[in-house]
Amino acid sequence: MVAGDNRLSPLVAEGDLYGVLVLLDDEPVELPGEKAALAEALVDLAAIAAGRAASHDELARSYAELRASREVLARTERLRLLGQMSAGVSHDVKNLLNPIGLQLEVLRRRIDRGDADAVRETIARLQEIVRHGVDVVERLRDFSRQDLEVQAEDVDLAAVATSAVELSRARVAQHPAIELRSAIAPVPLVRSRSSELATAVVNLIANATEALSERGVIVVATGHEDGGAWVEVADDGPGMAPDVERRVFEPFFTTKSEGTGLGLAMVYAFVQRHGGRVGLTTAPGQGTRIRLWFPVAQPR
Ligand SMILES: Nc1ncnc2c1ncn2[C@@H]1O[C@H](COP(=O)(O)OP(=O)(O)OP(=O)(O)O)[C@@H](O)[C@H]1O
Ligand SMILES: [Mg+2]
Repeated sequence: MVAGDNRLSPLVAEGDLYGVLVLLDDEPVELPGEKAALAEALVDLAAIAAGRAASHDELARSYAELRASREVLARTERLRLLGQMSAGVSHDVKNLLNPIGLQLEVLRRRIDRGDADAVRETIARLQEIVRHGVDVVERLRDFSRQDLEVQAEDVDLAAVATSAVELSRARVAQHPAIELRSAIAPVPLVRSRSSELATAVVNLIANATEALSERGVIVVATGHEDGGAWVEVADDGPGMAPDVERRVFEPFFTTKSEGTGLGLAMVYAFVQRHGGRVGLTTAPGQGTRIRLWFPVAQPR
């Protein structure tokens, strides 16, 4: 708009005032009709341009703020994971050292008594604890090795699932009332890694076996959908309470006295690394189903 004396024009765009356009001349400015309309259009255009420039600045500022807060969040998340990791490691180390200390004390008394059989029994217990310690350390080492690089290959999910089932048979057979069933169908090749996939499925079967407490059915199945193929392990065990379900993929989260809580965290990290997805379906009393999905390999 051109103001009353044609000299002052507020620059207004979408209700915001961005400045004032001042026409300066020696004489009072008197614009004839056509020029007044042109001046008015120029004022409007200038207002729109000023408005755009201002919103661009604001957008740039918002982006910068967003980037900064994302960095803070990533740092916080890293610290949180480090905290979780140290808490988990110290928990595991304490869980090893306490029983070792106790057993050594028992050992000393038994040696004093000169009871050779009892001494041997205590040594066997100590060896068992050390074995568990080695187990924990190996898991940790595997976990820290994980992020090195993505070595993907074309993988036959059905073949890997079948060998994981065979590898698990002996372990499951220790519980005569647990049945390990295979519903493995041929599926297209996917991008993954055979060795890690086999370990992941063995891990899932181990979890199912532990959850079943002596009785139930574990089914290992494969299938394909959505441009990918999957392998899943389902059990008809106790399922998970919502607060357990929420945390199972966190490193060191475990509800078991002897667990490291790294099993599912490793499975999750491995699947993510290959562009796959992990699906978890569970409810208290409804069993648990964990499905690992990978994208189909491109023909080459
Ligand atoms: N099939 C399942 N049914 C019920 N709960 C499960 C099942 N699988 C996993 N969970 C829960 O998830 C937790 C985390 O599992 P994860 O495999 O990561 O560690 P873990 O089994 O406790 O320890 P580790 O794998 O070292 O033996 C378990 O402690 C258990 O509470
Ligand atoms: Mg486990």
